[in-house]
Amino acid sequence: MRRPLYIANWKMNKTEIEAREYLRELLLERWDRSASEVAVAPPFTSLRTAGELLEGSGVQLAAQDLHWESAGAYTGEVSGRMLAELNVRYVLVGHSERRIHFGETDERVARKTRGAEKAGLVPVVCLGESEPARQAGRTETVIEGHLRLALAEANFARRGDVVIAYEPVWAIGTGRTATPEQVGGAHRFLREVLASVAGRAIAEETRILYGGSVTPHGVGEIAALPEVDGCLVGGASLIAASFIELVRSGVAARRDLPPHSADPAFPQAP
Ligand code: PGA
Repeated sequence: MRRPLYIANWKMNKTEIEAREYLRELLLERWDRSASEVAVAPPFTSLRTAGELLEGSGVQLAAQDLHWESAGAYTGEVSGRMLAELNVRYVLVGHSERRIHFGETDERVARKTRGAEKAGLVPVVCLGESEPARQAGRTETVIEGHLRLALAEANFARRGDVVIAYEPVWAIGTGRTATPEQVGGAHRFLREVLASVAGRAIAEETRILYGGSVTPHGVGEIAALPEVDGCLVGGASLIAASFIELVRSGVAARRDLPPHSADPAFPQAP
């Protein structure tokens, strides 16, 4: 059973004081942990504070990036080992903003994915096609390339412990959410690629999130798709009440699904 995961990606927003205020509000919510898993990805500067505030709450901590080495002469960088000590569980790798503005390559994403695994973190591998690529009919080629390269060094030591986030570049921060058909198609395709890379059992256990202009209003039709295992949320996650509402709506949409339709159709290991 893939438990939906909702990650609030704050990007470069919120000072530590603002982070505290947000998290206090978030912690007032009674999260139904059986229905979904919730994580917050603040900037590095608020991770320690967030780790302390979230401890024991069931809300998970995520980081927005990491370096692939555990230590060394890499001025300005932060390693997975450092993150793990702060109670970080998830770490984004290959977000399109890092690919576009900071020269992140598929090769680096692969090393970071492996680096995260080595540090005991769960990599959230972000990938997606640009607008010109979609218009040229190259969506599948692009996302397959991203996925295969990102996982080139992964060893899937713990099953289910890699998360994929499908985020079409043209939908991020633009207010243009992909249609349910586009999302469902991409997610089904990615799961098939994953099966060929890592085997069917791992593919069926791996959560594939959608990201790109998800709002409390629009999340329902995306979250109701059986292929979608949660969302990576940017803009709509910056206000705690909005993120809470979004997760509630996503969970409610899921409840309306026929029973077990999101369950993997493969035999469970004994
Ligand atoms: P958005 O960002 O929700 O603001 O489109 C999503 C993301 O970048 O992860």
